[in-house]
Amino acid sequence: MIKVKVPATSANMGPGFDCFGIALNLYNVVSAYETESGLEILSPEFKVCRNEERNHQNLVYRAMREVFNKAEYEPTGLKIVHGKSEIPRTRGLGSSAACAVAGVLLANEIAGHPFSRRELLNLAVKVEGHSDNATSAMYGGFGASFIKNGVTYFETIPVMEGLMFVLFVPHFTVSTKKSRKSLPQLIPIDDAVNNISHAAMMGMAFATGNFKGLPLLFSDAIHEKHRKDSIPNADFLIKASSKFGAYGTYVSGSGPTLAAVVSEKRLPHYLKLMRNFVEENHIKCDIIPAHVDNRGALIDKKEK
Ligand code: HSE
Repeated sequence: MIKVKVPATSANMGPGFDCFGIALNLYNVVSAYETESGLEILSPEFKVCRNEERNHQNLVYRAMREVFNKAEYEPTGLKIVHGKSEIPRTRGLGSSAACAVAGVLLANEIAGHPFSRRELLNLAVKVEGHSDNATSAMYGGFGASFIKNGVTYFETIPVMEGLMFVLFVPHFTVSTKKSRKSLPQLIPIDDAVNNISHAAMMGMAFATGNFKGLPLLFSDAIHEKHRKDSIPNADFLIKASSKFGAYGTYVSGSGPTLAAVVSEKRLPHYLKLMRNFVEENHIKCDIIPAHVDNRGALIDKKEK
């Protein structure tokens, strides 16, 4: 039995649309092993899914197939068990990337390690569609990446202690695919310059660990304004978050989660004020403080 533990990830981080991602310490655990025949997938409640069609749509399984096909390895049968599932689904916190990364890592173990992590990341990105979440889910820390001719190019760096992410997770879901349809195809040059400059400076802030300038750097002119329309009270909450001491607050991935970056020292005070704010204004969301995960996906191999 092989078990993998994959972190949640928060993509874009304001100006780094489709490029930045950060791994956070909420985890999904998935196990798998080769069986004599058939495909069996167990859900978090340990219900068996016997619906063939649904099994073949399962993201972990689809990612595993990418590895098996490329390795020309055909398992006799497979059992996949979705275990602990802390990452809220379809909320902009990388739950699909976690499945894709889990799938490629599990299949690579079963097939006898034909591929490096770098190659596996490419396969996970092929299944997931974007590189920002998958890169940080695989390697941990703060990541920057892009896809060119089907290859994911990336760098990741560990993030120093002391920086926390507070997630405001609404009780409704947003599909990334649908949300991207609301984005414009053409960007005015000033907006492009805004994002390039702020993203470059943010990359430097994370590389040097000098976060003093961070409050200026979350400005985005590409995607957030279009996405905030479908997140009730988004601007209201972002304004309060900055008033109560966050470095910045942004739409996590395609939303609807809003993520605030806060120094650990300020966290208790910040949380108290934000919890009151959310309650007083009847904003429906879960508030989850998270640390950065600097390790990325971990594999644990046990005998059956
Ligand atoms: N960067 C993607 C988007 C989401 O904003 O649509 C995560 O891959």
